[in-house]
Amino acid sequence: MSLCVITQSCFTCYVSLWSITFFLHPFVCSADYCEVNLCHNGGTCVTGVGDEPFICICDDGFGGETCNLTEAGPCSPNPCQNDGLCEVITPTRRGDVFNEYVCKCQAGFEGAHCQTNVNDCASQPCNNGGTCRDLDGDFTCQCPSPYVGKQCQLRCISLLGMEGGAITKSQISASSVHFAILGLQRWGPELARLNNQGIVNAWTSATHDRNPWIEINMQQKMHLTGIITQGASRMGSAEYIKAFKVASSLDGATYTTHKAEGQLRDKVFVGNTDNDSTKTNLFDPPIVAQYVRIIPVVCRKACTLRMELVGCELNVYSNTAGCSEPLGMKSRLVSDGQISASSSFRTWGIDTFTWHPQFARLDKHGKTNAWSPAHSNRSEWIQVDLEKTKRLTGIITQGAKDFGVVQFVSVFKVAYSNDGQSWNMVKEENTDNDKLFQGNVDNNSHKKNVFEPPFYARYVRVVPWEWHERVTLRMELLGCDD
Ligand SMILES: *[C@@H]1O[C@H](CO)[C@@H](O)[C@H](O)[C@H]1NC(C)=O
Ligand SMILES: *[C@@H]1O[C@H](CO)[C@@H](O)[C@H](O)[C@H]1NC(C)=O
Ligand SMILES: *[C@@H]1O[C@H](CO)[C@@H](O)[C@H](O)[C@H]1NC(C)=O
Ligand SMILES: *[C@@H]1O[C@H](CO)[C@@H](O)[C@H](O)[C@H]1NC(C)=O
Repeated sequence: MSLCVITQSCFTCYVSLWSITFFLHPFVCSADYCEVNLCHNGGTCVTGVGDEPFICICDDGFGGETCNLTEAGPCSPNPCQNDGLCEVITPTRRGDVFNEYVCKCQAGFEGAHCQTNVNDCASQPCNNGGTCRDLDGDFTCQCPSPYVGKQCQLRCISLLGMEGGAITKSQISASSVHFAILGLQRWGPELARLNNQGIVNAWTSATHDRNPWIEINMQQKMHLTGIITQGASRMGSAEYIKAFKVASSLDGATYTTHKAEGQLRDKVFVGNTDNDSTKTNLFDPPIVAQYVRIIPVVCRKACTLRMELVGCELNVYSNTAGCSEPLGMKSRLVSDGQISASSSFRTWGIDTFTWHPQFARLDKHGKTNAWSPAHSNRSEWIQVDLEKTKRLTGIITQGAKDFGVVQFVSVFKVAYSNDGQSWNMVKEENTDNDKLFQGNVDNNSHKKNVFEPPFYARYVRVVPWEWHERVTLRMELLGCDD
C-alpha cells in the first residue's frame, strides 16, 4: 500500500510494508522544506506552521515572504539604540540639519540615537553616605545602617522598649529558662532588659539547652537597625554572650538568619566581654520583621543576656500613598537572575524565540518581548525574588504580540513567600477565596491592580488564570522598601 502526496514544490510517498512505514523522497525536496533555506538575506527558515509549509523570519531591514524585499525608509534597519522607537518624519528643516527620522527613547536613555544612558545618580540623590546605583530611568540607594528610605533620608534609631518597658513581658519568649539555687531564682526572658538591676536581672538559657534563643515579638512589622547587648553577673561571676546570630520573621513561622549585604554566610555578631558594659551592633542592611530572635553562638559560663533593640516604625500609611514605586522589572533593578518561571515557550520550537521569564519586563521591545510558559494552563507561574523583604502595594501587567498574534493574561492570581518554599495566595478581603485580578485586554496597554491590603514579602508569584491565545506577560511590581 502506498500513498503519495503532492504539494506545491515536492511530492512525498509513504509506503507501508508489513506495517513498517517508509518515506520515499523521489525529488530533492523533502518533508523538511527548510532543508534548502528558501529564505533570502540571512532569514531563518521554519518548517510546518499551520497550513504554511514554511515561514521565513527576516533579519532587520528585510521583509516579504522569503525576505527578498528590502524594507524601505530610514527606520530600516532601526538606527535607534537601547530599544528606542524610530519614527519617520517628513523632511523638514530642523536647525541646519535635515533629518528623516527621530528616535523616541526608552526611559533612562537620551541622545539622537538613544545611545546615552541617563545617569540618574548624577544629582547624588542618596543622603547620609548611601551608595547610588543607576538604573534605566531610576536609581536605587544602598543605605548604611541606621539610615533607611528611598534616599536614605530617615535616621532609624529609636530605642524600641526593652529597657523603657514599651515591649511588655508577653512579647518576650525564649527556648528555655535557667533556674538557679534549687529553683528559687528564675532567669526568665522577661528580665532580658538593658541595665536591669537586682540579683536576678537577666535571661539565662537552661544548661542543657543546645540551641538557645530569645525572641521579641514587636506586634507589628518594624525596621530593625541594631541591637545593644549586655551580660550580667551571678554569684560574683560574669556571664555573657560572646558571639550571636540574629534571625527574623514576618509571621513567626519562617525565619531568616541575618546576613551582611552581599554575603551568603550567616552574620556572626561580636557580643560582650564582661558582665556590665554594653555592646552595640548595627544590622546592615536593616531588617524588616515582626519577630526577631537572638541566637547565642558562644557564651561565657552561661548564655546570659540583657538587651535593647534599635529601629523605627515602618511607613504607617494605611493605603499605597508614598509606597508605589516600580520595584525594578523595567528599570532592571531586578536582575535576570531574580526572575524565574515554571517553563518557557519557544515559538516553532526555536531557541532564539524563547519567551524567557527574564523578558517579562514592562514595555520590553523586540520579537520575543515577554514571558510565556511552555503550556498555557493554570499550573504555570512566574516568580520574582526581590532579594529582601519589601512592602508590595500593586502590580502592572501587559500583554504582547507573537509574530502578529495578540496575546495576554486576562485574569491572574498572586502568591507571595518569604522563603520561596511556602506560599500564601492573595485572598479576597475578609474571605478565604483566592483573589482574581483582572488583567489585560490587548497587546500593549498597562493594567494596574492594587494590593489591598499591601503585603510584605521577598518572593512574589503571578499565576495566570485566564488568557487570550497564549499566556503572555510583561509586568512591573509596585511597592517600597519600608
Ligand atoms: C520575492 O519573491 C516572490 C516570490 O517568493 C516574488 O514573487 C517576487 O517577485 C520577489 N520580489 C523581488 C523584489 O525579488
Ligand atoms: C561587673 O562589672 C562591674 C562594673 O564594670 C565590675 O565592677 C565588677 O567587678 C564586675 N563583676 C564581675 C563578677 O565581673
Ligand atoms: C499543564 O500542562 C502540563 C504539561 O502538559 C501538565 O503536566 C499539567 O498537568 C497541566 N496542568 C493543568 C492544571 O492542566
Ligand atoms: C497592539 O498595540 C499597539 C500599541 O498600542 C496598537 O497600535 C495595535 O493596534 C495593537 N495591535 C492589535 C492587533 O491589537
